[in-house]
Amino acid sequence: MNTNTSNGDAREHAREVLLAAVRGLVLAVAVLPFSVLFLVLTLLSVALIPLGVGIVTTPWVLTAVRALADNHREIAARWAGVPVESAYRPVPAGANPWTRTFGMLRDPQVRRDVLWLPVNMTAGFTTALLPAVLLLYPFEGFALAVGLWRPMADGTYWYGFVPVRGQATALAAGALGAVVLVAAWRLVPRLLTAHFRLTRAVLAPDQDELAARVRVLTETRRDAVDSSAAELRRIERDLHDGAQARLVVMGMDLGTVEALIDTDPEQARRLLAQARQNSAEALGELRDLVRGIHPPVLAERGLGDAVRALALRLPIATEVAVDLAGRADAPVESAAYFAVSEALTNAVKHSGADRIWVDLHHADGMLRITVTDNGRGGAVVAPGSGLAGIERRLGTFDGVLAVSSPAGGPTMATMEIPCALS
Ligand SMILES: Nc1ncnc2c1ncn2[C@@H]1O[C@H](COP(=O)(O)OP(=O)(O)OP(=O)(O)O)[C@@H](O)[C@H]1O
Ligand SMILES: [Mg+2]
Repeated sequence: MNTNTSNGDAREHAREVLLAAVRGLVLAVAVLPFSVLFLVLTLLSVALIPLGVGIVTTPWVLTAVRALADNHREIAARWAGVPVESAYRPVPAGANPWTRTFGMLRDPQVRRDVLWLPVNMTAGFTTALLPAVLLLYPFEGFALAVGLWRPMADGTYWYGFVPVRGQATALAAGALGAVVLVAAWRLVPRLLTAHFRLTRAVLAPDQDELAARVRVLTETRRDAVDSSAAELRRIERDLHDGAQARLVVMGMDLGTVEALIDTDPEQARRLLAQARQNSAEALGELRDLVRGIHPPVLAERGLGDAVRALALRLPIATEVAVDLAGRADAPVESAAYFAVSEALTNAVKHSGADRIWVDLHHADGMLRITVTDNGRGGAVVAPGSGLAGIERRLGTFDGVLAVSSPAGGPTMATMEIPCALS
């Protein structure tokens, strides 16, 4: 029984050792060329910034580096259970490549990604390759010991620190091989973990950065809680003053109808008509209220159609272009919808424009929305108002708002939310 268990344990461990060696080998072979390539591309691209070309290429290259690092993070978690955190700053809004390039280069996480490339192609490569080497090297020692092969070269052949000259030293080489095999048996899984620990040491953000990130999240969470509490109060007030009040009046009307129906049918009929009117209005108000919470068209047809429906109700000619290959999460869709709604309301209220353009598209894990009008401009993000509300709403999802609105127009509100489409 006991030997069975230890046999099973040994088999399990052997499997683990083999797996670690193979995985290390795969990593070493696969990651090395990418690290070298991306490092060269990054250096080239940054060097070309003064010539202008780099401004365009750098964001692409850095995004590719990030993808490589993200891939390695995932493998670290899956193969060795080593979590490698990341703390990328949201990429600045607006398609301006200049802002993108320098925004990305200023991000400490992006810089760590780039620093990780040379580390990964040297120390990372070595630690990844070592398990396989440790596991294979003993077999050369064994081959020497049993005389399967003899070094043909003149002079001394070194196996490790053993100079192989004859049968005795060949046996010593075999012994050394056995020692190395025992070491491999113990060390190989740990070596692979060490590789990922190294990755983590270079890639993971330090405490200060995480603390700053927590501060931002705490703030946006508080904003989200605040605004949902305010939203609840608004709904409560709307229900109280609207539908609830109408239902009360309806109830009273119906009571009077009950009393009058025999004595004064004429008056009763008038009151019935009034009650019907009240019920229709209560229904309308409830519908509006529901639309303000989560418009049914948004839930059913998604962001693109909901924004189109919104545009149809505007008094200004509005063009909507949608390029979304799927649906974002419901909270993201809802935030985006209300952000667009506020931007459109602003354009109608303040801009004096006669045309509005809305563009929604999703690329590189980012939902980008622009609302542009050809009005008089002069929009400002002031605390407490609608635009600041958009900023807060988007902030909950690490999204950003940028408003460009020179005097004389046009006004363009750009919103970006990092998210995936289903
Ligand atoms: N599209 C626009 N064109 C011109 N001016 C704008 C536009 N959008 C906003 N503004 C100006 O920017 C100010 C701030 O807009 P914001 O939405 O933050 O507040 P508001 O619309 O005045 O109030 P609220 O949204 O809370 O009802 C507006 O008062 C307006 O003067
Ligand atoms: Mg507004």
